[in-house]
Amino acid sequence: MGFSVEVLAKIAIELQRDIGHQDRFARLIATLRQALGCDASALLRYEAHQFIPLAIDGLAQDVLGRRFALAGHPRLEAIARAGDVVRFPADSDLPDPYDGLIPGQESLKVHACVGLPLFAGQNLIGALTLDGMSADRFDNFSDEELRLIAALVAGALNNALLIAQLESQNVLPGENNGYGQAPGQEMIGLSESMVQLKKEIAIVAASDLNVLIGGETGTGKELVAKAIHEGSARAASPLVYLNCAALPESVAESELFGHVKGAFTGAISHRSGKFEMADNGTLFLDEIGELSLALQAKLLRVLQYGDIQRVGDDRSLRVNVRVLAATNRDLREEVLAGRFRADLFHRLSVFPLSVPPLRERGDDVVLLAGYFCEQCRVRFGLAQVVLSPGARAHLAGYGWPGNVRELEHAIHRAVVLARATTTGDDVVLEAKHFTLHDQPAPVTSVALPPDNTNLREATGRFQREMITRALAQSEGNWAASARRLETDVAHLHRLAQRLGLKA
Ligand SMILES: Nc1ncnc2c1ncn2[C@@H]1O[C@H](COP(=O)(O)OP(=O)(O)OP(=O)(O)O)[C@@H](O)[C@H]1O
Ligand SMILES: [Mg+2]
Repeated sequence: MGFSVEVLAKIAIELQRDIGHQDRFARLIATLRQALGCDASALLRYEAHQFIPLAIDGLAQDVLGRRFALAGHPRLEAIARAGDVVRFPADSDLPDPYDGLIPGQESLKVHACVGLPLFAGQNLIGALTLDGMSADRFDNFSDEELRLIAALVAGALNNALLIAQLESQNVLPGENNGYGQAPGQEMIGLSESMVQLKKEIAIVAASDLNVLIGGETGTGKELVAKAIHEGSARAASPLVYLNCAALPESVAESELFGHVKGAFTGAISHRSGKFEMADNGTLFLDEIGELSLALQAKLLRVLQYGDIQRVGDDRSLRVNVRVLAATNRDLREEVLAGRFRADLFHRLSVFPLSVPPLRERGDDVVLLAGYFCEQCRVRFGLAQVVLSPGARAHLAGYGWPGNVRELEHAIHRAVVLARATTTGDDVVLEAKHFTLHDQPAPVTSVALPPDNTNLREATGRFQREMITRALAQSEGNWAASARRLETDVAHLHRLAQRLGLKA
């Protein structure tokens, strides 16, 4: 009573189609769901102790962004350990990772569940999961038949992984976890602009060029810098981080280049600078747009001649450092305005990368939402965190001026809110748990202070409120607040000090 030869032939043909891996897997999963009559199916790859969905059918789209750590999913762990077909009893008390994620059945638990581990030789490379809402859904299929399916799919998955590795373009989800090293944080996203960015990262990582990473606040520039370093020949050497916006002018030079004992008051011993620490590795200069013109000149010198001078030392020291720089300013404009050196800009921007804003990434918003839901589930020890269809639509329709960071915080806040009003361990995020405003509420009129206030005092009050609001909207980041207020960051610091907002 199992499969017909036709069904198997169809599966084999789907696996051979000459289309992108992603599409091929999607079609395969759809074919399987039809042939087996299940309500949901998923193809997952296994890497670094987690299962990563490659294709899903009959499941909420945000599942594609979820990463299932073995440690947090006993059912998947059982599949990983089994070595063969696993049929979970309908009354199994192991929670199903897809509970609440089958559209139209949000409140129902999954009933029939089969897991097929996928192997390449002895190595676990993935799993196929089949879920049904009725308990006897898969009784008609023998273990023999399911093993045959698993073998076909494992072969195809292994080929796809090998090809992706050969092309080393990191376009399959999970690919940029880094082979052999501590897994870096994965960059979630399947939209065209993100796939393109990942290809560019792979290309530029392999070169030894300096890279300028542009993009709005919260788009993931720091993740891009890490991915470039991890994909480069310098991966085994350190990636050293320096935030140029948080660098007081007085210590900046010593931070970058180090100093010798006695170089200035307080220099009680030798100290290496970031360039020395990053020798043979990578130096990530974050918010490079905030670097003073004087330091820009010194940085240019290092990039030109490859040597540095410690403060208070007239000898020079050779260093071999690759510089990655990030900014959310338009450096071209900064150059035109005379705030950034043109020659440094050209040195840094041999290979400019631009991280697209979240609003240009289509369905990635939903994938990222799923990713952060799963993170919160683990962090708060919840059984499940799902998005209601209303919440999903709400998130997809919003403009995300704060990009991925804003989404991450919005999900986090929503989980905290929803949890406060939920009994039990299953949290459903509704639209009402999100308070998203594309634009700050328009100021139609300003409430005037009492009659006896002088102009200076009133202006101060107003400035204080504006700055406090900008800081709140920028997660306390001064450079971002300055941009929001369209003022210079150094000026903002001084103003905030004068207004008593800052020590
Ligand atoms: N594609 C992505 N997948 C998963 N997490 C992401 C992704 N992009 C960004 N994040 C997360 O969003 C947050 C913001 O990212 P990041 O700090 O890299 O932004 P940024 O571009 O450096 O912003 P800023 O200009 O404000 O410094 C981080 O927690 C990061 O891990
Ligand atoms: Mg950053």
